[in-house]
Amino acid sequence: MSLSLGVFNSKIIALAESDKDPNPLRHDMAKGKIVAGCIAPHPPHLVYAENPDQNEPTSEGGWEQLRWGYERLRESLSEIEHDVIVILSPHWQTYVGTHFLGLENFQSLSVDPVFPNLFRYHYDLNIDVELAKQIHDNAEKAGLAVKMMENPDFRVDYGTITTGHLFNPKWDKPLVVISSNRSTDYYSAEVMQEMMIELGRITRETIEESGKKAVILASNSLSHRHFTTESEIPEDMSKEHIASHAMHLWDMRIIDYIRSGQTQRILDEMPEFIEQAIAESDGGGLSWLISALDTPDYPAILHGYGTIIGTGNAVVEWPCYKHEEGSQ
Ligand SMILES: [Fe+2]
Repeated sequence: MSLSLGVFNSKIIALAESDKDPNPLRHDMAKGKIVAGCIAPHPPHLVYAENPDQNEPTSEGGWEQLRWGYERLRESLSEIEHDVIVILSPHWQTYVGTHFLGLENFQSLSVDPVFPNLFRYHYDLNIDVELAKQIHDNAEKAGLAVKMMENPDFRVDYGTITTGHLFNPKWDKPLVVISSNRSTDYYSAEVMQEMMIELGRITRETIEESGKKAVILASNSLSHRHFTTESEIPEDMSKEHIASHAMHLWDMRIIDYIRSGQTQRILDEMPEFIEQAIAESDGGGLSWLISALDTPDYPAILHGYGTIIGTGNAVVEWPCYKHEEGSQ
């Protein structure tokens, strides 16, 4: 009798618990998420034009359309809580697999090899090593070639630093930094894209498992044919324009897809875009970003567009936080 009463009581308790929450484990650790994904281009000219303390050269401004675009992006995400910023930079070029910065802090002087007159930047950045390692480990399990960069003397590429600065000039959030596996050069754009779609899926799933809120950034220009000479005053905006009409048409085509929620078409046309517009998405960042966002079919926000030494650059935000379950 006492045994059956005990069973009865435990059933009552179980029912009462299930009334409260049918899946209590779900709340033990909140599911992480990507709150926003952005195209955040990295021409060093934009940092040069802002005259921050960390950069040695000084300027009279320039490229305001894009810098105002970055201002709008920062404002748009200023109230959106996030713990970490994940960047894929095409200027950290690794030919054997994808690498991740793997130490808690990196600091040094970064000098742009092409524009040492514009960019001599003293950086001091913090890494979310835990999340970087989790993405690394899950990518390895999925069969991708990966490596953690743990050399304390490693110099971080200027693409990461420029995008990091423009997105978050206070540098008050840790980063996960992912290299560009140059599979477009070594194999083809199709192979690159297959690998980056896989890495994007792994990035999204790992962020969800981690319980963290992340903003993810593809650090790249769109069309990337550039002038081969520099004007006497680099920030002389009377000399700035797109390199060619064909480059303009490609940029507007991709921006149309971005603004109308057609990211699958961007993936479909990526090999032609890379070949014909010398697009900097050859580094894999844009394919990775679209995949990590689960190939969104809602419109992204174009915060700004402008040219830099003839290349086409867009500052874009996919506001995932507006498209979560229950947010509509
Ligand atoms: Fe670049």
